[in-house]
Amino acid sequence: MKSIEINIKDALSFVSAERVSEFNVAASKGIANLNETKGAGSDFHGWVNLASETTQELVADINATAQRLRKECEYVVCIGIGGSYLGAKAVIEALSNAFDAYTATPGCPKVLFAGQNIGEDYMHELQTFLADKRFGIIVISKSGTTTEPAIAFRLLKEQLERQAGKDAAKNLIVAITDEKRGALRQLANEEGYTTYVIADNVGGRFSVLSPVGLLPIAVAGHDINALLQGAVEMEKTTKNPGEENIAETYAKVRNALYAEGKKIEILVNYNPKLHFLAEWWKQLYGESEGKEGKGIFPASVDLTTDLHSMGQWIQEGERTIFETVLSVEEPNHECVIPSDVANLDGLNYIAGKRIDYVNKMAEIGTRIAHVEGGVPNIQITIPRLDEHSLGQLIYVFEKGCGISGYILGVNPFDQPGVEAYKKNMFALLEKPGYEEASKAIKQKL
Ligand code: PA5
Repeated sequence: MKSIEINIKDALSFVSAERVSEFNVAASKGIANLNETKGAGSDFHGWVNLASETTQELVADINATAQRLRKECEYVVCIGIGGSYLGAKAVIEALSNAFDAYTATPGCPKVLFAGQNIGEDYMHELQTFLADKRFGIIVISKSGTTTEPAIAFRLLKEQLERQAGKDAAKNLIVAITDEKRGALRQLANEEGYTTYVIADNVGGRFSVLSPVGLLPIAVAGHDINALLQGAVEMEKTTKNPGEENIAETYAKVRNALYAEGKKIEILVNYNPKLHFLAEWWKQLYGESEGKEGKGIFPASVDLTTDLHSMGQWIQEGERTIFETVLSVEEPNHECVIPSDVANLDGLNYIAGKRIDYVNKMAEIGTRIAHVEGGVPNIQITIPRLDEHSLGQLIYVFEKGCGISGYILGVNPFDQPGVEAYKKNMFALLEKPGYEEASKAIKQKL
């Protein structure tokens, strides 16, 4: 079976191979840290061997729960924020039919998302949409106390109990949370919900290959075994330093570019199904590296769409960017451009060609233009959009992130900065315990 590949040729015209190899020692140390559960944040290294350590019993259990929800629900609302939703959303969007999103077919519920914002209109419209639907809930929160999902869960739980009855609702709610601690664990135990555990040593943004991602992905009808299998293969090939280690190469090149003043990395895709993969990647790298006044800013564009909005900036704006392009080798479907007798649009020169051929020519043309315009380019090729390739890609990005964070000299597994807005929000909301902070923040208004 084909594997994902990395090509750094168009980065090496901006930063020499010698400069990249200056990061060998730091990268090897990072890999050793991850292999030996050492270094900053090592108590959050549980994701490193998560895929290979996932038992067939757990996979079967998750598939059975997914099957039950698939049978009983038209819609399953996945409630969570940050690492508790982005991985599932990324994989489901990448693998599902783009136009199936809101139309349920028997035996195949649609997965909707809530608790990833505090938009009142969003919540109202979701509740209205679900008013005459058979729905279930997967509520995901490692801490069990995050405000956004807690609000959504309170509303949707009440709605589900009203629509389905309190007893039936208990069988339609699944909680994924800490094994022992937190409000969600306590509620799940009291109500007797089916639950899955987020291990203490797996941080939110590294949790997609745990039940956090696996259950929603299975509910959407995708093969979680193949996803895990792809990740297991990459666990092996990224275990040791060397040329075969894609994650190490990626981590070293992006750090070498950063050291040369390339402060922004744009993750580029040419397939709209990868939009949320980029959102997941942005959280992974942004939360892991953006600290202590350091870190590459992770951005993303969907091409060719955004060539008509961001293309000008990328081609000619400040030269502080580099691109990492996700290239899908083979589409899953075929669509050929027809010939037209009148040819008023002048497209007959590509009649008979597949759309993917045109997309690939756009991709190559854009790469050459951007490289000539001063934008270094890393290319990651994915054989096709399927579970196996996505499992590989997810793991390579996770491993690359761990290595890269260690090269940068930060703890890639904490996120102290995330607390600042929460403290202010709680003070403004006058949450019990925040009395002093409330007084202080009101002086600033
Ligand atoms: O990466 C992280 O740890 C965070 O972004 C969390 O995923 C996010 O804040 C959600 O937290 P929780 O699952 O505790 O509700």
